[in-house]
Formats: sequence, structure tokens, C-alpha cells
Amino acid sequence: LLGSSALFLPFGSQKSAFAAPLSPQIPRFEMPLRIPPVLSPQYSDATTDYYEIKLQKARVEILPGTTTEIWGYNGLLPGPTIRQRGGNPLTEGRQSVVRFINELGVDARGCDIDAVIHLHGMASLPQYDGFATDFIPTGYFKDYIYPNDRAATIWYHDHAIDKTSRNVYMGLAGMYIVEDEFERNLPLPKGQYDVPLILRDAFFAQTGNNAELVFDNRNERSTYGDIPLVNGVPWPKMEVANRKYRFRVLNASASRAFQLALSRKADRLTLGEKIAVIGSDGGLLEAPVVLTTPYQTLEIGMAERYEVIIDFSQYEVGESVYLRNIGFTGSIDTDARIHTLMRFDVVREEPDDSRIPNSLRAVERLPIGDVDKVRTFRFERSFNQWLINGKGWNENRVDANPDVGDIEIWEFVNPGSGWFHPIHVHLIDMQMLDRNGMPVRPYERGWKDVFHVGEFEKVRVIGEFGPRNPKFVKGFIRGKFMMHCHNLVHEDHSMMTVFEVGQGGDGPKSAPAQPIAG
Ligand code: C2O
Ligand code: CU
Repeated sequence: LLGSSALFLPFGSQKSAFAAPLSPQIPRFEMPLRIPPVLSPQYSDATTDYYEIKLQKARVEILPGTTTEIWGYNGLLPGPTIRQRGGNPLTEGRQSVVRFINELGVDARGCDIDAVIHLHGMASLPQYDGFATDFIPTGYFKDYIYPNDRAATIWYHDHAIDKTSRNVYMGLAGMYIVEDEFERNLPLPKGQYDVPLILRDAFFAQTGNNAELVFDNRNERSTYGDIPLVNGVPWPKMEVANRKYRFRVLNASASRAFQLALSRKADRLTLGEKIAVIGSDGGLLEAPVVLTTPYQTLEIGMAERYEVIIDFSQYEVGESVYLRNIGFTGSIDTDARIHTLMRFDVVREEPDDSRIPNSLRAVERLPIGDVDKVRTFRFERSFNQWLINGKGWNENRVDANPDVGDIEIWEFVNPGSGWFHPIHVHLIDMQMLDRNGMPVRPYERGWKDVFHVGEFEKVRVIGEFGPRNPKFVKGFIRGKFMMHCHNLVHEDHSMMTVFEVGQGGDGPKSAPAQPIAG
């Protein structure tokens, strides 16, 4: 279908400008939505479930009639979902041990594909947190211990230094859901009515029956595709009953933000469609936030999670409703616009005993009066690099050193350069205080680990590096962790820094990787 230029387009190429976008040829709303498989443990004991995930190349059908090479967890894009029973480990929660086995081999240039595993949204024990140089070389494996302290929708993805954007773009991302007793006892939709929606964009170049992913980071600025994938399917449709569903929405794109809204029409917004936001990065909100088109939309930057309830009983059987992206891309590169993501077809009637409680889960507000320190971080492009306070990545430089138990306010400043920055803090959840002195959006008021810092914005967040943080039922962790922009191209070049909690931590490295036997 394409000119011979496609032959010069292995992933990692900077030349996608020569390949024609395939989006015009892809059917809309014909392929069914897939749900990533839930991973079963290899075995379990009294306290712990033991899982195994292989990092593998695979050829999969993404665009109809073609196959695509992906790098995936268990060869899947997205990877399998881990659903784990969580909560206080002393009473109800279970721990997971996940063995990640790197069988990726080499990339198109013959370089080893070394992986780093980060479970985004949970610190691991004792400190296997996905530090960007804590590699699993190809041919090796490593075990990660996760405490599952608290119910939330989180995700695991690659974090290899300088290569994260490429590796995640090639497929290394999957969802991890922690559920606890409290949440199970709420009357929210469950089981088959509790559905992950992992959003991302992708660009493909076709030669014969091969449609290869093209990773073009536009001179280290950002990477965009013209085709939206929901759970790995381009423009899928999902058949639903006329009842409520809970969707766990994750934006796993490298560089693209979405501004989501429901509509009865594919090409414009209709009036009065409703989405109820019930959760964000750190679990349930205090109360549902109902967004109604056309004036209220859900902005979801890279790595953010929002849990929403859509009540399809507002539609007749036979009607359809579209999940639209109303055009927010998050940057000045707007040439690959994506307007719709998927369609829901209401195909049957079903009883519905679920409901959305008026109050969901208490969010304890951290006391501003107890703040030990205020720090400012400026996110800015200069000298063709993405920098924090004028500096790039240096594994050995610590830019913040809160003590165990300290409460700090961090001010994230984006002086404006055509880009927004979704800022991610490892280890703890924080709460947004304000944006340019104004209240944040109602759905941003829960515990979060990614903060949307728009152009000309100053966003203030507050966090405790201690046991009151909801992630630390099991005790607190000292040592070095990362904070970075989650535009993965910015992160790689090199908007990322180190903070160290307390003194004398174990350092950023986990136990050494073991060679795969045989
Ligand atoms: Cu989701 Cu440090 O990353
Ligand atoms: Cu950024």
C-alpha cells in the first residue's frame, strides 16, 4: 500500500514522515473490544501469590489482515492484567511476587533490549521500584515483591533509562488492579461490568502483510500516532447492556493526552451525556464527580488513571454512544489528531442492582500547617533538552531529601513552551492543592501520583513521606526514588530527577538479576 520508503522504517526510525498514515484505511467501530486476560498465579501460599511474566517479542494482528511485531508482557499488547486482593496485609491483603523474565533479545540495531520494571502506583519491597538503571538484562529474570496496600487501578511498564518511550511504545505496559474488602462491599458494578480501558496512540508503516509500529520521537520532542488503540484494538466497538458499567481508564500513550467525552454522534458532541468519575490514580474519590457534555470533559494525561461509571440505561437498546477525544493533544504537535476512540452499542436489556454511592471513600487531607518544607521544580526545555530546574538526569545527584515522616509541598512550574507536563512522583501519593492559586478540577482532588501541569501553570501538591501516606500500611521505605515528566520522550531526554527519603537507604538497586536457566 505504501511506497518503498516503508522498507527503511524499522522501529526506532526517525523517518515516519515518509510513511503515509494508515488511519484512513482502518475500519471504524467494527472490531470488538478485547479485554486483556487476567493473569493467574503460578502458585500461592498463606500470604502470597506468585506470578510469572515473560517479556517477549511477538507478531500480533492489530490492523486487520496484517501482523505487527510488538514487545509485550507475555507477548501481549497490552500485557495481562493482574487483579490482586489488597488492603492491610495484617488483616486482609495478600502480597504478590512477580517474576519478570526478559526474553526480548536484541533490537533492530543489534543492541540488547534490557528492561526495567516499574509498577506505577505502588512502591515495592524492599526497594524494587523500577529505578531507571535497575536492569533486567535480556536473558535474565528478577522477582519483585508488591505489598498491595490499597485498592487502586495502577499499571506496570518499562522504565529503562533513555529507552522508556520506545519500549513502552512497542508494547511493554499492562494494568494491575488492587481490590480490597471496603471496595468490594460498595454496590459498584463488578465482574464483567468492571472493564479496563487502556488507551494509547500508534503509528504504523505497512509493507505487504506487515504493519510495523514506527517510533518517531520527532527529534526528542514527543511521539504521536494517528491510530487510537483501546486495549490494543483500533477504534473498537463494545456491546453493552442498558445498565451501569465501571471502566478503569488508563492513558498508556507515550506523549498524547486525551480529553474524553461521550456523544451520540461520532463527529460532534451531543448535549447531556454523562460520565461519573469515581476514582483516580490512588483509588476511589471521596464522592462521584458527574461530568455532562458538552461543557464538562475528562482530561487524562499520560499515565493518569480515572475510574468512571457510564450508565447505559440513559440509552435505548439499539442506540450507540461514542467515546470521543475532543482534541486536546497536550502539545504543539497537533498534526495527528484523534477524534474518536471507540463506540458502545447498547444491544440488550439487563437488570442492574449496582448503584453509585453518594460518598465513596474518605480522603484524609494532609494538614498544611504541618508542612516541613516547600520545594519548587521548574519543567522547561532549554539547550534542546527537557530539564528540571535547569538540570538533566544524573543518577548520582539528589535534588530533594525529605526526612521520613516529613510533609512537603512541591510546586511544579511550567513556564510555557508549547507543552504540558504530566509530573509523576514515585513512592508516594500526593494531593493537589491548587493550580495557579485556583481550585483544581473536582476529579483531581483524590490521592494522585501524576499531576497535570499545563502551560503557564504552577501546580502545588502536598505529600507525606511517612506512614500516613496511604501506600504505607506496611512500613516506610528509605532510599532513592525518581520524579519525572511522564511524557516518555521528555523523561528519556531527560526530564527526570532523584529524591532521597531519609539517609542511609538501600540505594536504588534491587537484588541482582538471575540468568535464565538452560
Ligand atoms: Cu509510570 Cu516513573 O513511571
Ligand atoms: Cu514533559
